Amino acid sequence: MRRGIKFFMLVGAVTILGYSGFSAQSYAAGGKALYQAKCAMCHHSGAASDLIGKGGKDIMTAINEIPMMKMLKGKITENEANDVGKYLQSLKK
Ligand code: HEC
Repeated sequence: MRRGIKFFMLVGAVTILGYSGFSAQSYAAGGKALYQAKCAMCHHSGAASDLIGKGGKDIMTAINEIPMMKMLKGKITENEANDVGKYLQSLKK
């Protein structure tokens, strides 16, 4: 029984290490999927050029200040906004 618990703790530790080892690139990939699911209907699928380089903070500000984007309030977390920001910044020329 104790052995079993140790095994699960080991698996857990490896999983956490695996996540923290995620590269900026994979965050950008997650951000891209989020962008396509939650932003593309208004901002075009390839990210409108005026969004390129925007960060998570800009996105949270836009959600709070732009009437059309208020529908996203509570539908996107700060972490998700940061991921989308990383995606938008990865498009920088
Ligand atoms: C319901 C339509 C709609 C959705 C969905 C939407 N937006 Fe917007 N967004 C707008 C409008 C309208 C503006 C204001 C006009 C503009 O600047 O193009 C805007 C502006 C912005 C701005 C500010 C642009 C600037 O120049 O500072 C950012 C950043 C932004 N949106 C990011 C996002 C992101 C990221 C998502 C997805 C999480 C998203 N928007 C989803 C309609 C939308």
